[in-house]
Amino acid sequence: MAIAPWTRRDTSQNRHSSMLAASLLAALPLVYGLSSSGVQRQGNNCTVVPMGGGQDDGPNILSAFSQCNNGGTIVLDQYYVVGTVLVTSGLQDVGIELSGVVQYTPDIAYWSPNSLYLTYQNATTAWFLSGNNIHLYGGGTLDGNGQVWWDYPNVTQGTAGGSSTLFARPIPLTVGNATNVVIEDLTQIGSPFWNNFVYQSSNVTYRNINISTVSYSSNPTINSDGWDIYRSSYVTIENSTVNNDDDCVSFKPNATNILVQNMNCLASDGMSVGSLGQYANETDIVANVTVTNVMLTNSQNGARIKVFGGSPLSNSTAGGGSGYVKNITFSNFQLQHVDYPIVIDECFATPASCQDYPTKIAVSDIYFSNFSGTSSGLVGSVVVDLNCTSTCSNITATMTNLTSPAGNATYVCMNVTNSQFDFNCTAPTTGINLP
Ligand SMILES: *[C@@H]1O[C@H](CO)[C@@H](O)[C@H](O)[C@H]1NC(C)=O
Ligand SMILES: *[C@@H]1O[C@H](CO)[C@@H](O)[C@H](O)[C@H]1NC(C)=O
Ligand SMILES: *[C@@H]1O[C@H](CO)[C@@H](O)[C@H](O)[C@H]1NC(C)=O
Ligand SMILES: *[C@@H]1O[C@H](CO)[C@@H](O)[C@H](O)[C@H]1NC(C)=O
Ligand SMILES: *[C@@H]1O[C@H](CO)[C@@H](O)[C@H](O)[C@H]1NC(C)=O
Ligand SMILES: *[C@@H]1O[C@H](CO)[C@@H](O)[C@H](O)[C@H]1NC(C)=O
Ligand SMILES: *[C@@H]1O[C@H](CO)[C@@H](O)[C@H](O)[C@H]1NC(C)=O
Ligand SMILES: *[C@@H]1O[C@H](CO)[C@@H](O)[C@H](O)[C@H]1NC(C)=O
Ligand SMILES: *[C@@H]1O[C@H](CO)[C@@H](O)[C@H](O)[C@H]1NC(C)=O
Ligand SMILES: *[C@@H]1O[C@H](CO)[C@@H](O)[C@H](O)[C@H]1NC(C)=O
Ligand SMILES: *[C@@H]1O[C@H](CO)[C@@H](O)[C@H](O)[C@H]1NC(C)=O
Ligand SMILES: *[C@@H]1O[C@H](CO)[C@@H](O)[C@H](O)[C@H]1NC(C)=O
Repeated sequence: MAIAPWTRRDTSQNRHSSMLAASLLAALPLVYGLSSSGVQRQGNNCTVVPMGGGQDDGPNILSAFSQCNNGGTIVLDQYYVVGTVLVTSGLQDVGIELSGVVQYTPDIAYWSPNSLYLTYQNATTAWFLSGNNIHLYGGGTLDGNGQVWWDYPNVTQGTAGGSSTLFARPIPLTVGNATNVVIEDLTQIGSPFWNNFVYQSSNVTYRNINISTVSYSSNPTINSDGWDIYRSSYVTIENSTVNNDDDCVSFKPNATNILVQNMNCLASDGMSVGSLGQYANETDIVANVTVTNVMLTNSQNGARIKVFGGSPLSNSTAGGGSGYVKNITFSNFQLQHVDYPIVIDECFATPASCQDYPTKIAVSDIYFSNFSGTSSGLVGSVVVDLNCTSTCSNITATMTNLTSPAGNATYVCMNVTNSQFDFNCTAPTTGINLP
């Protein structure tokens, strides 16, 4: 999506108003101070003044965050170009009024080696927002300038997470090492990788977020997840829209006590727990998750749990990890044209070795309730596929009302114990290629 013209401001006018402001501020030295050319400081408010002409506003934004990092407000009310990694950490009681547009430069040569490396799936970020009691609001836009990345010839270099240490596509906004954060009323467009990463954080709420990751060339967007939640708890995501080509929300290792509600997901890969168990040396837990009131249209999955199979290698990076998925509720899902409305895959990315080395992730206490709508028919009449190679226990489905364009809906279960369904679930007669 192009930036609407009205969101850009005339830079000469900016310069003029900042000069005017500067002279006014100089007249009131006890109350106001202008601490550097690109940041207008009024008490504990730091307003970033755009440089204009495509120049990098990153250093001034960083300066504003360091000046107003304790009880202050950072005001980003205009159009900013950012070509510098933003590590804004140590914040305490900070408001971020983002009513303008923050647009990252399409400078792959800078971002790929310089974006901040995080310790999961080679993910890197352009903005690491960190601290305690942070409130981002204002109705503005964060533009990842993704098109140039999707059009780059070797964009899929790297493995699992889709990013690699050789070619890293930065996440536009990571809430990391943070507590008590609210992010609301934000539009996010053009993300080169995941839109949002919740990383080692607790008590984070996202509300009224409008995400659109759409390619305007024949090259598709890649790994455009709406949210990924990793090593974090007490996260709420609500009242948001996601138009992308990958998970709407993804619950990664050690996402616990999560609420996702009132979501509208278009063209996504659905609500996904996992993948888990990728690293043989690690323990992955996803527990106490509620996902409710979700509309999914033209989606690959509705509700999905995906875990890697096991591995004989103690150093494996493609399965063999241990842990559990427990107490997950998916309720009130309205589906339209969804390939796999309900799916558990215990051989994610490891179909060949999985029979010999079943997963070490235990899946239990999973509740599917009030799923209605239609599948796409991609896998024939199957609308529910609970494909457990190890045992899955205490899985329930109630108020299931799913149809398939390929005929009477069918339901597949394997190795599911101590469970109750309101449909007749049978062992598969033929294999299904899972996503
Ligand atoms: C600081 O910014 C906030 C939010 O825009 C505003 O309500 C407040 O009046 C400003 N305070 C000062 C001293 O300018
Ligand atoms: C893409 O990868 C190939 C093979 O590794 C390499 O020869 C080529 O130079 C790369 N192209 C770009 C634009 O990086
Ligand atoms: C990270 O990137 C390197 C290449 O730079 C690749 O070998 C490795 O498998 C990647 N790791 C993951 C988890 O994607
Ligand atoms: C986040 O916290 C971890 C653990 O305290 C620390 O090792 C890491 O450096 C922090 N990351 C950043 C980017 O501050
Ligand atoms: C969570 O964060 C919000 C916003 O900072 C705060 O109002 C609330 O008290 C926090 N909740 C807990 C349990 O700390
Ligand atoms: C979120 O959406 C629900 C249902 O549409 C609505 O009742 C609620 O008021 C909304 N909450 C916020 C904070 O916008
Ligand atoms: C597990 O192995 C991966 C890949 O070798 C490595 O990146 C990670 O740091 C290891 N984790 C632990 C907890 O040692
Ligand atoms: C997840 O949490 C468990 C229990 O606290 C811990 O043992 C494990 O190392 C954590 N895993 C990751 C990937 O952080
Ligand atoms: C899940 O919630 C239960 C009940 O509140 C709690 O006892 C348990 O510790 C939680 N699990 C995790 C992994 O946070
Ligand atoms: C299950 O998770 C929900 C949150 O999704 C939590 O309220 C509840 O206490 C958990 N129950 C158990 C038995 O852990
Ligand atoms: C794991 O270790 C074996 C030897 O024990 C080695 O051949 C292999 O390359 C290692 N794999 C990884 C992913 O490090
Ligand atoms: C179950 O998973 C296995 C391994 O990935 C696959 O070969 C098989 O086709 C799957 N069956 C169903 C019904 O999903």
